[in-house]
Amino acid sequence: MEEHSQEREKLVFLETFGCQMNDNDSERMLGILKGINFARTDDPCSADLILINTCTVRDKAEQKVYSTLGRYKELKKERPGLIIGVGGCVAQQQGEKLLKRAPHLDIVFGPHNVHKLRELLIEADSGRRVVATRLTETIDCDEYGVSPSASGEKAFVSIMRGCNNFCSYCIVPYTRGREVSRQSADIISEIEAAAAAGVKEVTLLGQNVNSYGTSGGGDVSFPELLKLVCRVEGVKRVRFVTSHPKDIGDELIELFGHEKKLCRHLHLPVQSGSDAILARMGRGYTSGEYFSKIEKIKKLYPEMSITTDIIVGFPGETEADFASTMDLLRKVRFDNIFSFMYSPRPNTKAASFEGQLPLDVRTGRLQVLQEEQKQITIERNRETIGKKMEVFVEGPSRGNPDEMMGRTSCNRIVNFALAAGMSAAPGDIMEVFVTDAYANSLRASAGR
Ligand code: 5AD
Ligand code: SF4
Repeated sequence: MEEHSQEREKLVFLETFGCQMNDNDSERMLGILKGINFARTDDPCSADLILINTCTVRDKAEQKVYSTLGRYKELKKERPGLIIGVGGCVAQQQGEKLLKRAPHLDIVFGPHNVHKLRELLIEADSGRRVVATRLTETIDCDEYGVSPSASGEKAFVSIMRGCNNFCSYCIVPYTRGREVSRQSADIISEIEAAAAAGVKEVTLLGQNVNSYGTSGGGDVSFPELLKLVCRVEGVKRVRFVTSHPKDIGDELIELFGHEKKLCRHLHLPVQSGSDAILARMGRGYTSGEYFSKIEKIKKLYPEMSITTDIIVGFPGETEADFASTMDLLRKVRFDNIFSFMYSPRPNTKAASFEGQLPLDVRTGRLQVLQEEQKQITIERNRETIGKKMEVFVEGPSRGNPDEMMGRTSCNRIVNFALAAGMSAAPGDIMEVFVTDAYANSLRASAGR
């Protein structure tokens, strides 16, 4: 009998920067690569393929990419057969320029071209350097078809891509293109397949999930889509990011009252507490409007955790503007925040605004903001002490393998001890009793 020679399994080293969209794109890359006999490695020195999935949302994120890329120059010299590719938003934004800047680079591919990875590798294997940065207006039928390679209990599912908001500081609409929604049937079948493979928690991803279905593709509204997702058998928890304050409506807010699977966490980026700055950012709401939405949500669901994104040092931000942001922080008492100092991004309107602030002013404000929030976060966490909470078990605790780690519905990390004779497996939901709280986690006991 003729023997078929089996091709050696190849190794890919993949590094991901940036947002959950990028994490999801990386999962899709791994899904494609798995189909062509690649396995993942943690060691770039043993890899046949090195991929860097990049982020350009802030200047700092972009600079990290160049230093990372520089590290692999020597490897390529030693092993010319090694293929190096850069994906993500820096690839989209820089395109051809990136190839010029890094002569050891073989492939440059943007977020709309992830599904073409297999073809791009074939080109690179035959010695050609390739750039794939075409932005498409509709979603290709095979773009999201590949089942994610991730095994485990949690899955991230893109429900749309791009953004139409053009906030004046943001590069995303230029790197991820115009907003397009996926068909609900495609999304649901992807989630059903994930659930059949053991996934128990699903996070729906989009730059602006509340406008799902309103532009291109989507056939139902976002609250309707959420209802469909909650109906999928085997799915125990449903999360979503990111919501835009101007688009979050009553129908969604009311849904939290009916859908038990919907997690009690809302990430609602406010960006600034100053109306003048919000207007120049082009956010479409005032600080007061934002606050009334929060009050309404908190009144209906006191257990809801609210997190946000804040930018300090936007062009022209005065001490008084910054003070308004600090006031909002104290009024809302966010459970947590992601805070950034403004950095000008290419092509964006704000990059050419007058009143760009010096670095020391921006860093100083960021520090003040973060100090204040740290206290608020600890206080908010301490409010859970003495409460019973349901946690989604993720695995053994990092610091102590005798304990377990899980997440509450409100997305807090909980480390907890099991009573003698008890067991817990990843994906289980169990009730714990919170005994202590810190800046980044809670401590609890189960079964006592
Ligand atoms: N400078 C600083 N932060 C930014 N973000 C987006 N663009 C910029 C920029 N140019 C922040 C916003 C956004 C988060 C993902 O990144 O807060 O919500
Ligand atoms: Fe960027 Fe604004 Fe779109 Fe968010 S909503 S991705 S901040 S343009």
